[in-house]
Amino acid sequence: MSALATWLEDRARIRRARGLVREDRVHPGGALDLASNDYLGLSRDDRVLAAAHGALDRFGAGARASRLVTGTTAVHRELEHELCALTGAESALVFSSGYAANTGLLAALGDPGTLLITDAHVHASVVDGARLSRSPVTVVAHQDVAAVRAALAGRTQPRAVVVVESVYSVLGDAAPLAELAAACREHDALLVVDEAHGLGVLGAGRGAVHAAGLAEDEHVVVTATLSKALGAQGGAVLGPEPLREHLLNTARSFVFDTGLAPAAAAAAAAACRILAAEPERPAAVHRSARTIAGTLGVPVSAGAVQSAPMPSAAAAAAAAQELRGRGVLVGCFRPPSVPDGVSRLRLTARAGLDPAALDAALAHVAEVLS
Ligand SMILES: Cc1ncc(COP(=O)(O)O)c(C=O)c1O
Repeated sequence: MSALATWLEDRARIRRARGLVREDRVHPGGALDLASNDYLGLSRDDRVLAAAHGALDRFGAGARASRLVTGTTAVHRELEHELCALTGAESALVFSSGYAANTGLLAALGDPGTLLITDAHVHASVVDGARLSRSPVTVVAHQDVAAVRAALAGRTQPRAVVVVESVYSVLGDAAPLAELAAACREHDALLVVDEAHGLGVLGAGRGAVHAAGLAEDEHVVVTATLSKALGAQGGAVLGPEPLREHLLNTARSFVFDTGLAPAAAAAAAAACRILAAEPERPAAVHRSARTIAGTLGVPVSAGAVQSAPMPSAAAAAAAAQELRGRGVLVGCFRPPSVPDGVSRLRLTARAGLDPAALDAALAHVAEVLS
């Protein structure tokens, strides 16, 4: 056996022993989906699909080059305009994913003279961006504004960036954005808010930053994914124009990456228009969130994600598998996807869920968890 084969087998054995084996299953049609992030059901909205089809016919299947070469099309511009109109941001720069937006932004903002302060529950894309940034990094306890303030006050670096999520992806809890922004203002730091799970769900769909009146705050920058409530694919950084200009020139995941596929950009732009025109849409997400949280016996979270702690990774995997067999898809979050090490079933609330189908699915959930 080669050294590589031995090493791979060793890693696989450790994963099996810890109950951490993952699979990229093709999900069965017909199951009730309580696992995806298509919170508003826009991925199959007729207007979104028509926009994607139109862009496919007009521009082709891919962007064909980096945005800086020939990969910027009229739909990329249109999408950036719609994102600004929806969120109130001064400017937007679209990346090929939310992951690329976070890593590109943090790597482009960081240097040894910039302290990065991240909440302990931030997404892997923020962790990886922090690693790429060459900045010193301080990880503070989850939702601990006093710890953020202490890190800002005690820093030796001239600049600082605080990174949080508006709605955290595993627990679904919301960050105290007003307090965090005040702390950043007082200490002349930048607050980066990842709105992956907030956009489309909070603030009548315009996101938590808009709802907190921070959309035009010079100390606040937003990152977003277009792949959850917007039902498409891609990511964006929303903030002041000079930041866009800086990222366009220096963010490696923008400069050295093929532009977002035009069909995805057009789909996301259409979704933005729908959200802006139909601010009542997120209310349906919160209604099903309350029903799901009630079944799980957990406090209803601020966002769509409802999260039930499980005794072990193996128990979480077994419960998710049992539910799949019964036609109910739920998320199974195990280390390293859970920041506190507690494995969970993660159920996502979505608009457009048929109440009777949801009740039937939740009866299975209650039975499997009992
Ligand atoms: C909080 C958070 N940030 C960023 C991302 C990455 O977004 P994308 O899937 O568009 O790469 C995700 C997606 O899982 C997320 O949950």
